Amino acid sequence: MSKCVNGLKSRLTAIIGAQWGDEGKGKLVDILAEKYDFCARFNGGANAGHTIVVGGVKYAFHLLPCGILYQTCMNVIGNGVVVNIPTMFEELAQLDKNKVDYTGRLVISNRAHLVVDGLLEADAKSESDSRKKFLGTTKRGIGPTYSAKALRQGLRVGDLLLWDTFLLKYHALNAKLREQEGIQIDTQKEINTLKEYRDILVNKNMIVDTISLISNARKDGKRILAEGANATMLDIDYGTYPYVTSSSTNVGGVCTGLGIPPSAIETVIGIVKAYTTRVGEGPFPTELTNETGKYLQKTGHEFGATTGRPRRCGWLDIPILRYSIQINGHSSINLTKLDILTGLEEIKIGVNYLLNGKVIDYIPAQLEDLAQVQVEYMTLKGWKQDISDCKIFSDLPIEAQNYVKKIEELLGIPVSWIGNGPQREKIILKD
Ligand code: GTP
Repeated sequence: MSKCVNGLKSRLTAIIGAQWGDEGKGKLVDILAEKYDFCARFNGGANAGHTIVVGGVKYAFHLLPCGILYQTCMNVIGNGVVVNIPTMFEELAQLDKNKVDYTGRLVISNRAHLVVDGLLEADAKSESDSRKKFLGTTKRGIGPTYSAKALRQGLRVGDLLLWDTFLLKYHALNAKLREQEGIQIDTQKEINTLKEYRDILVNKNMIVDTISLISNARKDGKRILAEGANATMLDIDYGTYPYVTSSSTNVGGVCTGLGIPPSAIETVIGIVKAYTTRVGEGPFPTELTNETGKYLQKTGHEFGATTGRPRRCGWLDIPILRYSIQINGHSSINLTKLDILTGLEEIKIGVNYLLNGKVIDYIPAQLEDLAQVQVEYMTLKGWKQDISDCKIFSDLPIEAQNYVKKIEELLGIPVSWIGNGPQREKIILKD
């Protein structure tokens, strides 16, 4: 692994959520993208919500890579992403409105899969099915699209290039959805919309082989920022299954979702919120169901960017972070939203899980076991001073410094970036 743990000098840096998502990945991606030649999304779809505040304008990106705001940055939607074309154009309209020129700076992998209306409908249907309701998906068609991909029934962005063949594949998928799930949609309406967008994408050469594009860029010494959506505990393999998303959100997803060899990845920054949140159901060992939990939810504005759902809040969970380090090999951490802890008398950190009275050094795969774990906490003194104007680590109150240092000690890796406010400039680079 490279010595550059903060990503400022690396040729390829991956940004990975280390908890249950909504850690604030967007901000660091935004900050680093300015220095990178490429910003590439490798997983998920419009179920993620990166929020960036620039020059007083708030951008909510669900599909577009955050590098789109920089004129020097080429943006790639990789093969591991599932793309809803109309949603992508809605996001592009946000840029048009704010006069951000993206001409020649956005390409989509011809191998990325398409989220179409029938798959959106399948998602809505499965969510209204009481047996699946508990999963709490974002209803963006993500699960059904990855399912269709695995069943070899999916439609790829590259299929749009050959329109007549695309139509055959499109109708075949819809026939299957009709037969198997009773899903009926207005296909002609969707075809008309897709044709319109498809013509724009083709005319602007936006559908490309991103594997060779990125590979050639790397040969030319270009620097690549791999932007992850969702997070490790939502990973289809490593997350708290079945309360997970349908893609590889871990560092392996960088390889499978962009076609990049593992050896090319120099830096893996784990994005860690200074406390823990999660949306929807599922075990959450450090959850706070008391006033402190409510305080974090209110002060941290813990409501989903995509769905508006309130997020459950709890203390920082070290066992989860150790697990994330095992899987992703984080070079360092970006501790976000440290400012939200300001004002608390004391701050706890969950340091160990106990199962049946014994400390365990793994995350139980069975949710029944995870729901049973007891958490061993350590308590640190909080701070009252506003930290939002701190520029360097030593500006922080000693208690906040101690909190950060304790995290480094418990995890054995450095905290390289500390977020102390939502704005782009509210970040401390810790050496
Ligand atoms: P997913 O990909 O859906 O998991 O989301 P995300 O990790 O990209 O989260 P997002 O970028 O949407 O950030 C969540 C919210 O936190 C946004 O409103 C950010 O502006 C805000 N945020 C990010 N960093 C900080 C910080 O250090 N302090 C405060 N107060 N807010 C922050």
